[in-house]
Amino acid sequence: MCGIVGYIGHRNVADVLVKGLQSLEYRGYDSAGIAVIDYPDEEKSVQSPAVHIVKGVGKVAELKSMLAASPVSGRQGIGHTRWATHGGVTEINAHPHSDLSSRLVLVHNGIVENYRELRAELSVPEERYKSETDTEVIAQLLSSLYAGGGAREMIGALVALHGRLRGSFALVIMVKDIPGKIYCLRKGSPLVVGFSEEGEALCASDVPAILPYTQDVVYLDDGDIAELSAEGMRFWSAAGESLEKNETHIDWDVSMVDKGGYSHYMLKEINEQGAVLRSSMARRLSGEGEVDLSAELPWTKEDALAWKRIHIVACGTSYYASLVAERFLETITDLDIRVDVASEYRYRNLPVGPDTLAVFVSQSGETADTLAAERLAKARGARCLAVTNVIGSTLAREVDDILQLKAGPEIGVAATKTFMGQMAVLYLLSLYVGKLRGTLTEAYEKSVGGELLLLPYKIESILQQQELLYRLAILHSDARDFLFLGRGVSFPVALEGALKLKEISYIHAEAYAAGEMKHGPIALLDPRVPVVVITPQDDLHEKTFSNILEAKARKAPVIAIASEGDRSLDSAADNVFNVPTTLPVLSPFLTVVPLQLFAFFVAKLLGCDIDQPRNLAKSVTVE
Ligand code: F6R
Repeated sequence: MCGIVGYIGHRNVADVLVKGLQSLEYRGYDSAGIAVIDYPDEEKSVQSPAVHIVKGVGKVAELKSMLAASPVSGRQGIGHTRWATHGGVTEINAHPHSDLSSRLVLVHNGIVENYRELRAELSVPEERYKSETDTEVIAQLLSSLYAGGGAREMIGALVALHGRLRGSFALVIMVKDIPGKIYCLRKGSPLVVGFSEEGEALCASDVPAILPYTQDVVYLDDGDIAELSAEGMRFWSAAGESLEKNETHIDWDVSMVDKGGYSHYMLKEINEQGAVLRSSMARRLSGEGEVDLSAELPWTKEDALAWKRIHIVACGTSYYASLVAERFLETITDLDIRVDVASEYRYRNLPVGPDTLAVFVSQSGETADTLAAERLAKARGARCLAVTNVIGSTLAREVDDILQLKAGPEIGVAATKTFMGQMAVLYLLSLYVGKLRGTLTEAYEKSVGGELLLLPYKIESILQQQELLYRLAILHSDARDFLFLGRGVSFPVALEGALKLKEISYIHAEAYAAGEMKHGPIALLDPRVPVVVITPQDDLHEKTFSNILEAKARKAPVIAIASEGDRSLDSAADNVFNVPTTLPVLSPFLTVVPLQLFAFFVAKLLGCDIDQPRNLAKSVTVE
C-alpha cells in the first residue's frame, strides 16, 4: 500500500523516481506524484530553490507522460504512489504535499490517527488546507516545529514530530532551506535506505526501488530518523541520539524484479515455482530426505517438549498455506494445533503463553494484522517464529526466530510462488518439530522428505500443460460464479483456487469443504455455475466423487483436478486436468498449480489488469 522513493545523486532525478515508483507498482495505488528541488548552483541561472511538484490520478505511466510534456530538473527528489485512505482519489490529495508556506515537501505512507486533533491545534483556517489528507497536516505540523535553523535543528524537529504523531507513518521529507539532504522518519510503515558506490543516496518503502543502485541496504526501525546526502547516510533515534545502523545485503538481484520475457509477473512467478521449491529446501533437506533446521532454529528437544500447542497465524493466501500445513502437522505431532486469520486471532481469548509456539506466516512481513497478532503473542510469552519472504521486514525483525521462504521477490499482487514456498517451509517445520518431539519415525520423515525433493520436477511437468488450461479458461471465462470444492488437504487448495480467480478476474468464486456442499451451496448449482473439484488420489477420493455426481445431477459443469491414471472421473466430470501422483499429504503442491494458471488465463481472456488487480495492495499495512 502506497510506495515511496527518494533519491539524491547525479542521474536524472525524475527518471530515477519514476523507475522506482514503477518497481513499487505492485503495492497497489490510485495516484502518483513526485517533487524535485532545483537548487541554484554555479552552472545554473536559478536564483533561489525551486520546488517542482508533478502529480495526478492514475498510473505511473501517466505521471511519466506528464513529465515528458513538462520536464523537471534537480539533484534530489521524492516520489509516491498513493492508495487512498483520507480523502478521495484526486490530484489534490495525491502526494507529495507541502506545508502552507511551501518551505518543505513530503510524502507519507500509513495513517496518522490524531490528524483531526492536530489540525484543530494548528489553528490554520480550514480553507487554507488544499487537501483532505492527514499528510498535509503532518507537513504543516513539521513546518511549525522547524524554525529554519538548518540541518541540526531539523533533527530536533523530527524528534518532536515523532512525539506528536499517533498511528503509523513512513515519512520522506525535503526542506527548501536545507539543500542536498533528504530526511526519513519511520514508525510502523516500512522504510529502507541505501547508498550506492557512485555516491547516490536512496530511500524507498521496499527494496526493488533501490536494487538497481545497491544491494546493501539499511532497514529503518520504528522511531529511526535518517538523513541522506551525497556524502552518505546518518541516523538518529526517536530520542535524537546518534545511531549506528547495520547494513543488510539483499541477495536478490535486479533481474529478479523484471518480467524475464513473460507477459506478466504473475505468469513468471507461477513458472518459477519448481525453482522456489528447490531453493526453499536447499540446506534444509538432505538428499535422503532428512530435515535439519538447526542452522536457523536454535531449538533444543527440551524447548520443543515444553510446547503444548502451535498457533499459526496469517492472512489471505498465507492463511490458506497455513491451513494446508495444519493438516500435515496434526498427523505428525501430538500438539494442539490452531490456525487463525490474524485479524481474528488478536481479538480472541485464546490460551497463548510460554508453552506456545506461535508461527506468523507473511510473504511481506509487513501485514498490519499479522504484526499486531505477533505482538500480542510475544507479550504473552510465546516463542514467536516468522515464516516470511522478506528478511528485513518488520515481522522478521520482531520475532525470536525466522524461516525465510527464499522465493525471490514476488511482484504480482496475487501471491503464487510464495504460497508454494510457504507450504514447503511449513512442511519442513512440521517435520522438524515432529522430529524434535520424537513423534516422527525416521522412515516417515524420509518418505515425505524424499517425495518433497521430487516435487519440483512434477510441478515442471504441470507447467508444460498450460495450453490445456488455456482451453479450459476459454470454455468457462463467461461464467459469473464458480464453486471450488475439496476435502482434507484439498479444501485449503480450493480456498486458494477461488481466491486467485476472484482477485484477478473479478468473477465470484466460493470454496467449500466438499462435504458442506449439500448443506447450502448446492442451491446455487445450475448449468451456468462451473464447479472445480480438487480430488487427487487419497482416502477421501470416493467421498468427493459422490459430490461430483451431486453437482452433475444439477447439470453444473465439473472441472476435476485429479491424479494421473485416475480414470474414474472420465465419465463423471466434464473436464479433467491430471497432476502427477505423489503422497496424498503433498498433493496441494501440485493441485494448486493448475488453479493458479486457470485463474491467470481467465483473467487474461477478460482483459483484466492481472499484476495489479483493482483495489488490491501487495502489502496490506493498515488493519
Ligand atoms: C492473495 C494475497 C493476499 C495476501 C495477504 C497476506 O493473492 O496475496 O491474500 O496473502 O494480504 O499478505 P502477507 O503474506 O504479505 O502477509
